[in-house]
Amino acid sequence: MDPQDRRTESDGVAIGSATAAQPAAQLDPDGSLPLSGLPLAPVPDRVDPTGIMFRGAPRTQRGPAMPYSITQRELVWADNLPELIERAKRRQWNATTDIPWAAGQNEIHPAYTEAGIFLSTQVVDEARHVEAFLKRLYLNGVGLREVSPGTESSIKGLLMQEDFARASFLLHVLGEGTFTDLFHLLIEISPDEATRQIMVRSLEDEARHVAYGVGRLRTQLSGQKDPDLLGQQFVEALEGRLSFTYEVSGLPPQVQEALAILAGGGRSPAAQGRGVPRIRQFIAELNESRKRRLLQAGFSEQVAEHISQLHVRSSGGLM
Ligand SMILES: [Fe+2]
Ligand SMILES: [Fe+2]
Repeated sequence: MDPQDRRTESDGVAIGSATAAQPAAQLDPDGSLPLSGLPLAPVPDRVDPTGIMFRGAPRTQRGPAMPYSITQRELVWADNLPELIERAKRRQWNATTDIPWAAGQNEIHPAYTEAGIFLSTQVVDEARHVEAFLKRLYLNGVGLREVSPGTESSIKGLLMQEDFARASFLLHVLGEGTFTDLFHLLIEISPDEATRQIMVRSLEDEARHVAYGVGRLRTQLSGQKDPDLLGQQFVEALEGRLSFTYEVSGLPPQVQEALAILAGGGRSPAAQGRGVPRIRQFIAELNESRKRRLLQAGFSEQVAEHISQLHVRSSGGLM
C-alpha cells in the first residue's frame, strides 16, 4: 500500500483544535437512538498507538503513547458491529432468574468465580456508559470536544496498573467513588429528563462498582495487623502514577465551568453567582466523601488524608 493512501487517525481525522458544530443525532421514528444515528467520524484504516479518546475527538497535540497492538481496521472491525450491539442488548438474560435451576443442580465453581462474574457485569455496565454518554454528546449536535492531555495521561496511569489490588483501589474506590458523587450532583442539576435518567441509571451501576471496591478493601485490611502498612503500598501506587502522569490539581477547569453553568442555570453573571459557589461546595463534598470511604474501609485518619491528597494530584480529582 502506498503510504499516502493510508488513512490514520492522527493525519486523517482528528488533529486540529477546530470544534465546529456537528450535525445532531438522528432519532428513529419511535424516539430510540441507535449508534447508527450518530454522525461519527469514519472508521480509520490504521491508527497510531497513541491516545485514549474515541475516534474523531479534536486534539491539538498527540495523545500519550499506548501499548495498543490492534491498530488496523482489518484486524478487529466488522461492518455488522452496530447491528450485533443492538442484538446483544435485546437478547440479554439473567442467569439468576431465567434458568430453571432446580432442574439441574450439579454445578461446581472454582474458588472466587463470583469476583470474575461481578467484574464481567462491570465491563457490560461500562460499555453501556460509553454508549449512553456518546449518544448524549451528539444528541444536540455538539459531539466530542477537545481532548484534555491531563485527563488522558491520568487515565493512562490507571490503565497501566498491573497489580489487581492496587488497580481495584485506584478504580473502584477512588475513581468510581468520585463518579458516584459527580452523578449525584448531575441528577440535581440535569438540564433535561434524558440527561437525568442517564445519571440515575449510571449512578446505580457505579454505586455497585464502588461497593465492591470498598468491600474488597475492607476484607483485605481486616486481615492486616497494621492496615496503614498496606495503605503505604497504595500510597506508593499513587506516587508511581504521579511519576508518569502530568500533575493535575483539582477538577479540570473546563469540567468546573460546565458544571457551574448547569448548576447556576446559565452563563449570566447572576447564574454564575449561583453556579460557581455550588461547584466549590461540590469539590469540598468530593474530598469529604473520598475520605469517608477510606475511613470506612479501615484506614486511619492520617493515611486517608494522605491518599486523598495524592489522588487529587494524580487524577485532577477524577479517575
Ligand atoms: Fe462507568
Ligand atoms: Fe464504573
